[in-house]
Amino acid sequence: MAAKNTNMLSLIFSFIILGLAHLNLVNTLSANYYDQTCPNAESTITSVVKKAMLNDPTVPAALLRMHFHDCFIRGCDGSVLLNSTGKNKAEKDGPPNISLHAFYVIDNAKKAVEALCPKTVSCADILALAARDAVTLSGGPTWDVPKGRKDGRVSKATETRQLPAPTFNLSQLQQSFAQRGLSMDDLVALSGGHTLGFAHCSSFQNRIHNFSSKQSVDPTLESSFAASLKSVCPAKNTAKNAGANLDATPTTFDNRYYKLLLQGKSIFSSDQSLINSAKTKALVSKFASSQQEFQKAFVKSMIKMSSISGGQEVRHDCRVVN
Ligand code: HEM
Repeated sequence: MAAKNTNMLSLIFSFIILGLAHLNLVNTLSANYYDQTCPNAESTITSVVKKAMLNDPTVPAALLRMHFHDCFIRGCDGSVLLNSTGKNKAEKDGPPNISLHAFYVIDNAKKAVEALCPKTVSCADILALAARDAVTLSGGPTWDVPKGRKDGRVSKATETRQLPAPTFNLSQLQQSFAQRGLSMDDLVALSGGHTLGFAHCSSFQNRIHNFSSKQSVDPTLESSFAASLKSVCPAKNTAKNAGANLDATPTTFDNRYYKLLLQGKSIFSSDQSLINSAKTKALVSKFASSQQEFQKAFVKSMIKMSSISGGQEVRHDCRVVN
């Protein structure tokens, strides 16, 4: 009997320890994580991002989307950065990630940081910092990024099926975000990431050709806007790089995306669906009329999204596991 009780107690004790360890994993991120070990990491990453965007203005959009896609699969663990190997097709070669680009910026940042403090700063942290810099350097807000993420050792192309699709309706989006601990408020604020960047025709094809059995074009699209999308993306589009900017100021981080959304000029069905509930529509209107409210909400939700945990090592090369 005594032995049974002892076993029971040790089982309970193990659960408590495991629980604490888990909490610890979630809570290890901190704003001053590298203060002692790599105090110049952040400024080094910022200058690499700055240099890259001067050469190529599409870099900030690419980095922001890359971080989002990293966090949504296995947590923010740099799994999106790993290359495919002989036996394994990695996330970056999964269908939604084929259009990710600017991986070289993370490689350059990692090289620069390794030269300062070897084997210290994770690739997942570098990506989170680069995404913040992308927003700030495009005229958006800045914030302290909590750090201390670890890099993962697994990356599977098949798991990119778990990313939300541009054809998703509001409840599908809500479910996808909720599975990662993110709310409807986070969904509306983070969709504001579509203030930067570009979409290929295939991502919004569903809205402009054969939309439904009754209408060939999505009736929620403003008609002249729909016509312009159709002209750049004809039904039998063969131009691989054809597409449209996500808002009228694609290199400036502003609240234009929400203003256009209210006018039926958003690119994806998923964007448009944000005005399909009273609650989300009220948020869209709030962000459309106040840049400040948008920025405040975006920062809060970015910190939340970029704290989804995963990973166990500090990779030496962002493209391969140690
Ligand atoms: C809510 C669900 C979301 C869906 C369904 C979605 C879907 C998409 C799609 C289909 C593209 C265009 C890909 C292409 O055709 O090349 C895109 C681009 C982009 N997305 Fe999202 N996205 C979502 C949320 C987010 C979030 C949360 C962020 C960041 C906070 C984000 C940032 C971006 C950026 C910056 C681009 C432009 C990328 C570039 O120009 O390289 N998206 N998104």
